[in-house]
Amino acid sequence: MKRNFSLLFLLFSSTFVFGQNNLSNSVKLGTSTINEVVSAMTLEEKANLVIGTGLRFEGNGPVIGEADGRVPGAAGNTLNFNRFGIPGTVLADGPAGVRIDATRKNDTKTYYATAWPVGTLLASSWDTTLVHKVGVAFGNEIREYGVDVILAPGMNIQRDPLNGRNFEYYSEDPLVTGLIGSAMVKGIQSNGVGTSVKHFAANNQETKRNSIDAMVSERALREIYLKGFELVVKNARPWTIMSSYNKINGVYTSESKDLLTSILRDEWGFKGIVMTDWYGGRDAVAQMIAGNDLIEPGSKSKSQNIIDGVKNGMLDEKVLDRNVTRILEYILKTPSYSKYQYSDKPDLKAHAQIARQAAVESMVLLKNNENILPLKKGTKIALFGVGSYQTVIGGTGSGQVNVAYSVNISEGFNNAGFTIQPELSKQYTTYIQEDKLAHPKKGSLTLGAPRMVPEYSPSTETIENAVNSCDVAVFTLSRNSGEGADRTVKDNFNLTENEQSIIKTLAQSFHQKGKKFVVILNIGGVIETASWRDWADAVLLAWQPGIEAGNSVADVLSGAVNPSGKLAVTFPVNYSDEPGAKNFPGLPVENPTHVKYEEGIYVGYRYFSSFAVKPAYSFGFGLSYTQFAYSNLKLNSDRFNKKITATVVVKNTGKVPGKEVVQLYISAPVKTVEKPELELKGFAKTGLLKPGESQTITFTIDARSLASFNTEVSSWVADAGNYTVKIGASVEDIKLTKNFALENDLEVERVHKALVPQVKIEELSRK
Ligand code: BGC
Repeated sequence: MKRNFSLLFLLFSSTFVFGQNNLSNSVKLGTSTINEVVSAMTLEEKANLVIGTGLRFEGNGPVIGEADGRVPGAAGNTLNFNRFGIPGTVLADGPAGVRIDATRKNDTKTYYATAWPVGTLLASSWDTTLVHKVGVAFGNEIREYGVDVILAPGMNIQRDPLNGRNFEYYSEDPLVTGLIGSAMVKGIQSNGVGTSVKHFAANNQETKRNSIDAMVSERALREIYLKGFELVVKNARPWTIMSSYNKINGVYTSESKDLLTSILRDEWGFKGIVMTDWYGGRDAVAQMIAGNDLIEPGSKSKSQNIIDGVKNGMLDEKVLDRNVTRILEYILKTPSYSKYQYSDKPDLKAHAQIARQAAVESMVLLKNNENILPLKKGTKIALFGVGSYQTVIGGTGSGQVNVAYSVNISEGFNNAGFTIQPELSKQYTTYIQEDKLAHPKKGSLTLGAPRMVPEYSPSTETIENAVNSCDVAVFTLSRNSGEGADRTVKDNFNLTENEQSIIKTLAQSFHQKGKKFVVILNIGGVIETASWRDWADAVLLAWQPGIEAGNSVADVLSGAVNPSGKLAVTFPVNYSDEPGAKNFPGLPVENPTHVKYEEGIYVGYRYFSSFAVKPAYSFGFGLSYTQFAYSNLKLNSDRFNKKITATVVVKNTGKVPGKEVVQLYISAPVKTVEKPELELKGFAKTGLLKPGESQTITFTIDARSLASFNTEVSSWVADAGNYTVKIGASVEDIKLTKNFALENDLEVERVHKALVPQVKIEELSRK
């Protein structure tokens, strides 16, 4: 009997186990409901799904699994669970292009990607149609390389020029950031792949990025640091958002329910998943509760924390299930889920042409005395500067791209039919070669401040020869930076003594012979220009222009394309003029733990215009080879009722075709809330206008555009009074104004009391 009983038990139990397997084996993502899948998953499986897998950093491993290693070099993955038909998905950097390994073990094929012009350059186009076009091509490349989500775009505000990652970000202004970012996200996602808009939020420096506490007022957060993200979430519905490394007002962003649930989901209606930045935050349970669905790239200990959290009651399993549900909803949308047969052969040639066009349409002409640009065909160029021969196409770190080639400025000039003085060319290339041999590059990923080849000082004789044999001198000044380190004021924001002296010597030598001197700025972030710009006859801000850098620069200098970019960030005279300078990168000085945003809402031009501080080049500024006249500003009403429409006529009054960036600012009455002098509330770029041709531009101003955040009542409010619409070619160059009245105070939207500072922040005020 005993034996029979055991047999029966064995039979029963094996039937039971068999039955259970059978049951869960029949549960499949796609055919079963998500609820059924979640119910069939074990606690351990769920904990492993909310933990990513992939990248290894020394000392941080081991990570769980390897997904299926489909795309080497991709920054992360989500894990696959074959028994539920859940594929792994692939997440890859970054804002300037698909960052994956270009070559693979035992594989003769190559996997190079397009380096798009950096974010700061794209934003200087002020052209959402152009950025959308870049996004569409970028998205195609993402999909064709087997990637599901690109860890981009970078949408932090350029609070301070020294942030080493500014090149990845768009602007100092939230509207430019939000609209350019929306165009990029829509373009990329139109390919059926996702974006991860990053780094949410107030990640405005690299110094102590993993622990710094950004102490920011609720108003500055809402109006400046969250606004761009709000616009992109509402306009473009990104699949995912990446929380940032830093804390806001004492709480890690990835652990902040205020940020990730109350604001992002409840107020803005975000429906996708939130992932951490790589190894970001500390407390996995707090992250789960806050609504940070996915922890990247995941570690065994994090998954154990989650399992323990559920077991000891700190984490309600329903919360875990909610996050798992969101991740499964995401997976259902991915190319990995639909088993898309990617080609690994995107049309890199076609994409390079789009990168070239985008760069050309975004470069900013800062100075052009006596219209010396464009250079005439056949001009003999004395080409100086290491950056002319080794042009920086983009920044470092996760914003870097593995390219098959890139075109430097000297090659670009050659391609455009200019003659480059060969002697100079030889000297520079030999110098760069020797430097490379002396300082071999270690590894493919550079974190922190990259080493730059020091500027070369040509001898007096070399310069004399160049003056005698060439028509014009061109000097390229380069900078590079990337994640992990901020830039310094000395020798980086400011020019080195050597750079200053080369500029001066070249200018004097060429001017003495009646020849002109042009400077090209090949930089990823704002630098000092006021002390040396008088030496130059022309200055072209080329930023970091991506893979076709040299061809793009040549297109502008040859006049093949008329420049039409404008600054999306202010260039101050001195670094100390910056509103955030006095507390960047935080305190204590030797080892910052926190940074107080005492400038409040007065970031960038909001500060310079409100406090009458003259910048070197103002926000919105940029020259063209033609001129534009503004006329006929009309408002559809002089009283605000839900919205107001403004129209203005822009005419090309010069001699060559061109495009103009038209900006709409508003100056508001001051009653309950303090206001900056003026704020950008709309912008548009004309089409290519022929000489004599006009275009009417229409702007719509809604109630939200008038409102500011009133902290007292946690509301967006617009005070009654007189408002002025200012149409400008830049923030300093207002061409036309018109007034309208708001008759009654308006409460536009009441929101949560959230992200409240734990300490007093003495904010800058105009009162
Ligand atoms: C960066 C992210 C990036 C991630 C994955 C982090 O260090 O801050 O922007 O997407 O690494 O490479």
